[in-house]
Amino acid sequence: MIDTKYVTVSAEQPDEEVVSEAARVLDRGGLVAFPTETVYGLGADAFSDSAIRKLFDAKGRPADNPLIVHIADTTSLTSISASFPEIGLTLARTFWPGPLTLVVQRTDRVSDLVTAGLDSVAVRMPNHPVALSLIRKLGRGIVAPSANISGGPSPTTAHHVYDDLNGRIDFILDAGPTKIGVESTVLDITLTPPVILRKGGLSKEAIEAVVGQIDSDAGSEILKRSPGNRYKHYSPRASIRLVKEGNLEELSRILQDEVGSTKHIGCILHSIPDRHFGPNVIVRRIASDVEQISHMLFDLLREFDKSGVDLIIVEEVEEKGLGMAVMDRLRRGSAS
Ligand code: TXA
Ligand code: MG
Repeated sequence: MIDTKYVTVSAEQPDEEVVSEAARVLDRGGLVAFPTETVYGLGADAFSDSAIRKLFDAKGRPADNPLIVHIADTTSLTSISASFPEIGLTLARTFWPGPLTLVVQRTDRVSDLVTAGLDSVAVRMPNHPVALSLIRKLGRGIVAPSANISGGPSPTTAHHVYDDLNGRIDFILDAGPTKIGVESTVLDITLTPPVILRKGGLSKEAIEAVVGQIDSDAGSEILKRSPGNRYKHYSPRASIRLVKEGNLEELSRILQDEVGSTKHIGCILHSIPDRHFGPNVIVRRIASDVEQISHMLFDLLREFDKSGVDLIIVEEVEEKGLGMAVMDRLRRGSAS
């Protein structure tokens, strides 16, 4: 059991002293959870194998699932990426810092533990003052998977991190809830056209507006390139069922089927109208815009888990823009 230090910092103007202390923890091979614009990350020195081993251990993460290297300036790419294609420079100029992870050729300096033995490496520049300051103070890249126990919903607040990892990591930087709420889009630019390996905070439409057509429905052969796709993900303890957007009849039918067998049910709804659905049914309503849904989703799943519901029914969202990432997480979360 590690004594986990928990410190609150301002998201806009983080206290230099606090961030320096966290950077020293990383420099000594420790683990620091920090906010990004997508979700909280669990950081380790990208060039310390012993720190990275601890990181996999703390999360219970399978060793064959590679990590994203987080950087604060593009000059540090030379130590990470052997060849950074022109299209990557265009994307980096347009979207970094931001919720886009690029998969590129690695250098020999990047550890096999980071890449899980692949010849590529994932890299991104997060759009958060705390994250950027932490990377600058360490002076080199930080590997950071989402700061949750492997398999569960990603953390969008420092309290989520605390619930999962208190006693297993050295430091938690709390700068309030993350803005976007789903992880970055992972784009493999070693392929032509580039392929989305994980839908995320940057929409396919936004990427295509800059570099033309990309592939977001690659077959399973290609998706195997992203080992993360093999694992169960985003699942709360309760099971998830999806209901079509606006479809009150479908919701009522599911509730009728489930109320007998399932004790407690939570519903996350945005456009299905309010009804009294029954004594054991808790309803959380969210605004009908996809930014709000993405921002709230993992928090609501965790809240329902805490209150002990057996089933979470979630109203679907339209599958465009950020809605693609939201539906991806919901489908994976509901797959048994
Ligand atoms: O928004 C995010 O990306 C967050 C924050 C903390 O930055 N991080 C995050 O990391 O979601 P993680 O480890 O939970 O997800 C990384 C994903 C995994 O699906 C992994 O398989 C994939 O990126 N990945 C990493 N390196 C890769 C590589 N070389 N080739 C293909 N996929 C890779
Ligand atoms: Mg993750």
